Amino acid sequence: MRVGILGGTGPLGRGLAVRLAAGGTEVVVGSRHAGRAGEIVGELTSRWAARSLRILPGVNEEAADAELVVLATPWEAAVPTAHELATRLEGKVVVSVANALVRQGREMHALVLPRGSVAAAVQAVLPGSPVAAAGHHLPASKLEDLDGPLESDVLVCADSQEAKEATMVLFGAIEGLRALDAGSLASASAVEAFTAVLVTLNMRYKAHSTLRLAGL
Ligand SMILES: NC(=O)c1ccc[n+]([C@@H]2O[C@H](COP(=O)([O-])OP(=O)(O)OC[C@H]3O[C@@H](n4cnc5c(N)ncnc54)[C@H](OP(=O)(O)O)[C@@H]3O)[C@@H](O)[C@H]2O)c1
Repeated sequence: MRVGILGGTGPLGRGLAVRLAAGGTEVVVGSRHAGRAGEIVGELTSRWAARSLRILPGVNEEAADAELVVLATPWEAAVPTAHELATRLEGKVVVSVANALVRQGREMHALVLPRGSVAAAVQAVLPGSPVAAAGHHLPASKLEDLDGPLESDVLVCADSQEAKEATMVLFGAIEGLRALDAGSLASASAVEAFTAVLVTLNMRYKAHSTLRLAGL
């Protein structure tokens, strides 16, 4: 299985790349600039040299050629990036991790988007690709530290059963993560918006907390 990450050079993309690769998945870290992807992949593979991670650099177009693609750009760039690569992404599961948030003083606030969520807006420009929303509550710094513990639930929303199952398998294969079926893409608005509360808590308590639901 090869996974491509669009905007994979950011903290979330890097963290996801090393965690997926540590579980045996081949990952293409995508960027708008080939040199930047090469630099980041060089850093990751040297930091974790003993683990022989299969992480390759590429431009976003190459990452989009993978079997499953994670869209990990800032939220404002998610729709334009998906739209630009729509033909290459056709028929593939695309996972949106973006949270549309804005900082207001010592709080983060969720923005209300026309279709309710970034994931739904991405699905609208990718009619030929089943889109899932997932991974919004994962702290990038903890993902990137393979020596550190990771314990989190990953809420997965999708209209397509294929996208939901593939995304649950993807995140569920990362040690310490539990993937949960959180419903259709309509639920992505609540899932994305809750990240504002989580980040606010993290700012107030100077923490890197994540989501763990009791009773399931
Ligand atoms: N950071 C977290 O802890 C975290 C946790 C969960 C979810 N998320 C979500 O994951 C996504 C990525 O987060 P991040 O912190 O890694 O973001 P980031 O560092 O701001 O951006 C990720 C990458 O996107 C590319 N990019 C930046 N502006 C772009 C544009 N206008 N068009 C196309 N590509 C652009 C850049 O790569 P190149 O310059 O190499 O192209 C950048 O390295 C966000 O949507 C965020 O809401 C983040």
